[in-house]
Amino acid sequence: MDEFSYAHRNTSGADRWNKPNIPPALQAVRESAFAREIPVAGDGTLCFLMAQAAAVRPKNILELGTAVGITAAALALTCPYANITTVERDENFYAEAVQNFKNLGISPRVSAICGDAGEVIGRLEGPFDFIFLDCAKVQYVKYLPRLKALLSCGGILLADDVLIYGWASGEAEVPKKRKMLAQHIEEYLAAVTDDGELITSVVKIGDGMAVSVKR
Ligand SMILES: C[S@@+](CC[C@H](N)C(=O)[O-])C[C@H]1O[C@@H](n2cnc3c(N)ncnc32)[C@H](O)[C@@H]1O
Repeated sequence: MDEFSYAHRNTSGADRWNKPNIPPALQAVRESAFAREIPVAGDGTLCFLMAQAAAVRPKNILELGTAVGITAAALALTCPYANITTVERDENFYAEAVQNFKNLGISPRVSAICGDAGEVIGRLEGPFDFIFLDCAKVQYVKYLPRLKALLSCGGILLADDVLIYGWASGEAEVPKKRKMLAQHIEEYLAAVTDDGELITSVVKIGDGMAVSVKR
C-alpha cells in the first residue's frame, strides 16, 4: 500500500498550485479587495470556479453575492459567450462592481442587480446553466427550491463556504452563537445530497464548495 499512501496525505498546501489565470487589471481589483478585507474568492476557489466554468461552457450564469465583481468578471472572461447576472445588496459594492465591469470591458455581458438575492431570484427568468451561490450562507437552504427551478437540466449549482470553520465537516465545534448559521448550512448540504434530482460533490476548496449538477 505504501506506494499509494500519497492519496491520503493532506493537500492543504495545494493552494500554491492554484494560480488564477486572470488579466493584471482583474488581479489589481483582487489585491485592492484583499487589502480592504472584502471577503472575495481566494486563489483555490477562483481556480476551481474558472475550471468548472471552462468545462461546462455555460451560456447563462447567475451569481448571488457580487461584492466588487471579481468572480463575476473571472467567469465572464472564462466564458466569452456567456451572459452573467449577478446580484449584490450592498450599494457601495454594487457601484464598485459596475465600474470594474466597465473598466474590464465586460459590461455588455454582465447584468448587475442591486438588491436582496432572495427577492431578486423570485423575479428572474431562467434557465441558468451555471449558478454560483456566494451570499448570505444562512439563506442557502431557503433559496434552494427557487435556484433548482432556475437551473437547467445538466446545469451546475456551486455553493461556496459550506465547510466554513470546519463545522459541517465535524472538524470544529460550533460556537453557541453560530449554531443557527451552522444548522442552516447543514440543512443545505443535507438537501442537496439527499435530492434525487441532483448529483452533489462537496469539495474542500477554500472554505468548501458544494457542487450540484441537475440531472
Ligand atoms: C463572499 S462575498 C462575494 C464575493 C464575490 N463572489 C467574489 O469572490 O468576488 C458575499 C457578498 O454577498 C453579499 N450579500 C450577502 N447577503 C446578500 C443578500 N441577501 N442578497 C444579495 N447580496 C448579499 C454581501 O454584501 C457580499 O458582498
